[in-house]
Amino acid sequence: MADLSVTYMGMELENPIVVASSSLTSTLEGVRHCADSGAGAVVLKSIFEEQIEAETAEVEREAMPYQHPEAFDYVRQTAMQMSQDKYLKLIKNSKKAVSIPVIASLNCVNPGWWTSYAVKIADAGADALELNIALLPTDPLRTAREIERTYTKIIDSVLRKINLPVAVKIGPYFTSLPHMARELSGAGASALVLFNRFYQLDIDIEKMCLTPGYHFSSPDEIHVPLRWVAILFTQVRCELAATTGVHEGAAVIKQLLAGARVVQVCSTLYRNGLGRIEEMTRELSSWMDRQGHGAIEDFRGRMSMEFSDKPEQYERLQYIKVYSGLG
Ligand SMILES: Cc1cc2nc3c(=O)[nH]c(=O)nc-3n(C[C@H](O)[C@H](O)[C@H](O)COP(=O)(O)O)c2cc1C
Repeated sequence: MADLSVTYMGMELENPIVVASSSLTSTLEGVRHCADSGAGAVVLKSIFEEQIEAETAEVEREAMPYQHPEAFDYVRQTAMQMSQDKYLKLIKNSKKAVSIPVIASLNCVNPGWWTSYAVKIADAGADALELNIALLPTDPLRTAREIERTYTKIIDSVLRKINLPVAVKIGPYFTSLPHMARELSGAGASALVLFNRFYQLDIDIEKMCLTPGYHFSSPDEIHVPLRWVAILFTQVRCELAATTGVHEGAAVIKQLLAGARVVQVCSTLYRNGLGRIEEMTRELSSWMDRQGHGAIEDFRGRMSMEFSDKPEQYERLQYIKVYSGLG
């Protein structure tokens, strides 16, 4: 029987399937259910920087100059549903209730004083912290360099305060992703989570208003993170976690072959139920048996760009072949 255990940011996981930050992990019952269903670890639902600021400062709007007033009111309401204390209680109770690693999650855009809340997260017993840095660059006067520095400043200000492993969840939209990934790793990130799936926007053409797009990913969405996990595998010192578009066992295997330590799953669990975790571990295990692999380290990264016998396939050659009809 294949050994599915992995280490992720120094934590021991029985298998590489991690339930991604979402409402599935926003309550103690949810966390218990994930653990009982065989998850290797959970990432708790994110608490937002704005929630922490709004609640702590009892806040005047000036305290959040970058926020639209409506956004401010919304954040205040959500802060009531998931207050700072409630979040810390969720961490503490989850740690008591389950034996798998519990990773807390903070959604942030600034290196503000809120980072001291990270200390409380560490004190509450979280095994690690995932920073979902969700910066949407809408200001044409802010340069790419300026925005990139915000990422490293956030990591730096959190790591000055806590001793936990910190993962950084980012989107794919950087001009030089390998350079950015190295900067994040160099700033002290223990892992990069590739990639965040940003809030999808749509327009209702009858009501003439903005509406939320579809929440869940499709299996086709694996290709962007798969490519980048394969490229970045040996380019950064930190570990890689793959998220977005992992819906079944074959997708888990692909991401491990590309070089991911773990995969984070969410949409497939909403669609198919938590029983999907066991289906995926079964598929992984029987594939490893068929291929003669006793442990994940035997094959992890084998299809990364570095270890490929055709690294050019990750680059321009393949693109030319396919689009010029020569492939
Ligand atoms: C309903 C829902 C809620 C989510 N909430 C969060 C969140 O609070 N923090 C976060 O970092 N990601 C959140 N995500 C994103 C997921 O963690 C995950 O990265 C994304 O859905 C891609 O994985 P998937 O393709 O398996 O769904 C959420 C996703 C969904 C569908």
